[in-house]
Amino acid sequence: MRYAIEAVDIVKTFGDVKALNQVSLEVQEGEIFGFLGPNGAGKSTFVKILLNLVPASAGTAEIFGRKIENISARRNLGFLPENIVAYPFLTVEDFIRFHAELSGIPKNMIKQEISRCIDTLGMGEKRNKRIGTLSKGMLQKVGIMQAIIGKPKMLFLDEPTSGLDPIAIKELRSLMLDMKNNGTTIFLNSHLLSEIERTCDRIAILNKGKIIKTGSQYDLSVKGKHLEVIVEGFTDSMALEINKICSRPVERSGTCLMIYPEREFDSITVHRIIIEQGGKLLSLSWNTESLEELFYRIIKDENICNS
Ligand SMILES: Nc1ncnc2c1ncn2[C@@H]1O[C@H](COP(=O)(O)OP(=O)(O)OP(=O)(O)O)[C@@H](O)[C@H]1O
Ligand SMILES: [Mg+2]
Repeated sequence: MRYAIEAVDIVKTFGDVKALNQVSLEVQEGEIFGFLGPNGAGKSTFVKILLNLVPASAGTAEIFGRKIENISARRNLGFLPENIVAYPFLTVEDFIRFHAELSGIPKNMIKQEISRCIDTLGMGEKRNKRIGTLSKGMLQKVGIMQAIIGKPKMLFLDEPTSGLDPIAIKELRSLMLDMKNNGTTIFLNSHLLSEIERTCDRIAILNKGKIIKTGSQYDLSVKGKHLEVIVEGFTDSMALEINKICSRPVERSGTCLMIYPEREFDSITVHRIIIEQGGKLLSLSWNTESLEELFYRIIKDENICNS
């Protein structure tokens, strides 16, 4: 199988700092892949290596089957760096045109493509403004525009929500999902876990230069699907009955219970046990571990193990 990204044992050292320590991962074609990790974990360094902007100290990587050192691997890629550097004296339109020309879009398509990008990011009113006069969020939108110009097959976004307002974040989410539906593979570095949760098919968690987990959020969740129940008058006898149909014991915190039934339809049994034994059921809903809980747990466990 050919992967969109295949990295094997990537190492990067900066003097004494081991920024990446044998990082291996595969990204499948057409997926949105989230790369998470605390500040300084090595996320941006990894992306820069894949784009051949920074040489790896060891290891190999390919993009769509082409070695990253080969210039052809960078054909049809889009990249939003974490810090956008743009000529302040250019207008938004000139800057995007400059990138459109660099990206090799056929000349007769450039005008149309610039308008598409400007409209997609809602920057019509700013197209003649100089880059140096833009707000932080507007500059970020310009960065996103230059990344998506030419409808790349592979898109790298390093902290794309940085500086964006909630409406722009929502629009960026739709844009990513539209691009995915049109076949673009997206590699997303982000600290905004709620966005990763909503958009990514799979994630990898990087800590101190090492990948510690890879998989879908569901795969990485220890709790899996569970019931969150609020009950007044919950008793030990109810807990005993409920535990018989669960993969692990009921967890109690005041009136709030976490229940892990083995089968989905056992939620009805939980409901029945509580009511029959005189409990007052206030709410009952299925839930999974949030990405925030999962991330916090995994990083905390890892740091405790290595301290
Ligand atoms: N050019 C450089 N020279 C020296 N050290 C560097 C350089 N670039 C990165 N580093 C170091 O490599 C490590 C990883 O940095 P990197 O920027 O990849 O982290 P990150 O996961 O992207 O963090 P953040 O979430 O803050 O963006 C850090 O310790 C950083 O100080
Ligand atoms: Mg970074």
